[in-house]
Amino acid sequence: MLLAVAVSCLLGFAGTSPTTKTYQNALIQSDAPDPGCFYDRTTEKFYCAHTCNGEGALCTNSQGNFPIYESSDLSSFEYVGVAQPPDTDGWAKDRFWAPELHPSPTGEGYVLFHTAGNADGNLCLGVSTAVNATGPYVPSNEPLLCNSDEENPTVGLIDSTLFVDDDGQPYLVYKVDGNSNGTPSNINIVALSTNATYVAEKDVSSHVTLITNDPDSWEGPCTEGPWIYDDHSKSGYLFLFYSGSMYNNVGYSVGVARSKSLFEGWEKSPDNPILHVGGEDSGFSGPGHCSVIDNELTDGEELAMFYHAHTGYREPTVDTERNMLLDFVRINEEGWPEMVNGGTPSEDVQEIL
Ligand SMILES: *[C@@H]1O[C@H](CO)[C@@H](O)[C@H](O)[C@H]1NC(C)=O
Ligand SMILES: *[C@@H]1O[C@H](CO)[C@@H](O)[C@H](O)[C@H]1NC(C)=O
Repeated sequence: MLLAVAVSCLLGFAGTSPTTKTYQNALIQSDAPDPGCFYDRTTEKFYCAHTCNGEGALCTNSQGNFPIYESSDLSSFEYVGVAQPPDTDGWAKDRFWAPELHPSPTGEGYVLFHTAGNADGNLCLGVSTAVNATGPYVPSNEPLLCNSDEENPTVGLIDSTLFVDDDGQPYLVYKVDGNSNGTPSNINIVALSTNATYVAEKDVSSHVTLITNDPDSWEGPCTEGPWIYDDHSKSGYLFLFYSGSMYNNVGYSVGVARSKSLFEGWEKSPDNPILHVGGEDSGFSGPGHCSVIDNELTDGEELAMFYHAHTGYREPTVDTERNMLLDFVRINEEGWPEMVNGGTPSEDVQEIL
């Protein structure tokens, strides 16, 4: 209580009106990498699922897979359980990574997209469905998609995201994990069935590549963590947010590409990376793997970007904790997304835009 009074006095001095909503990073102050977030119109809450498995195993909510956090105000997030209770993995055996929750494009229920290792040890993409936003999410019998590329058979598929176009046609966008074997890290797209749980075209080499890493740039060997935001009704563009460099480096960052058409013409922003570490005194480093959504809390013009970052400034040789952070994105006059707070993770109390 005392603390709350002190904070509101502080904000009063900063000239903020009493009704202004605020937040301060990190929103999840424990290991919460790869946050996939959405706003649920049924419950009028935000939900984020995150990776909680694999190398490092720093996450403590490991009973089952994919912890879910809930928020009604964007100032605080509360753990509400796992998307998949123990022993409901289906085909998936290990490396439960990069979950995303979405309302089903059919208008009924919810879908969870994620990465996992299958019985053959390959990294594949999976889908599960639920009646309620917080689950439980029941996996499909088979993986959604595994690598079928005979030219590059050892590489896995990871970091799936769902994009639904104006007509309600869902697409799967994912990363070919090329940096794991020294080949390009392509971000690919393929059509999903109308219920978003089936890919008919299993031949990965026939899928369209939207962007690839430029090894001579900040991206280095890796582009991953794709997320498409449809802004064509305003700026005329689709935006593809992605991460580049390696997840365990201070230099892991968020970039963006844009196009007027889903399958071709993607150009990367001249201002990439748009979100990156600040100086050596930064409280957070290596920001990445974002999800970018409308802020239905304020109906503001700005977009809410949820992402993870390592705590402190460090070049980890082993995995360190990655917290979940929030910062806002606006579309500038040139039609490019940019971070409202200048491109580094915010640390002080911020206004919810
Ligand atoms: C969904 O949520 C409702 C309301 O809380 C509950 O009654 C119902 O049992 C839930 N359904 C499932 C499948 O969990
Ligand atoms: C989803 O669509 C696929 C392909 O049309 C179909 O095989 C599957 O049964 C559908 N799933 C549900 C739950 O309706």
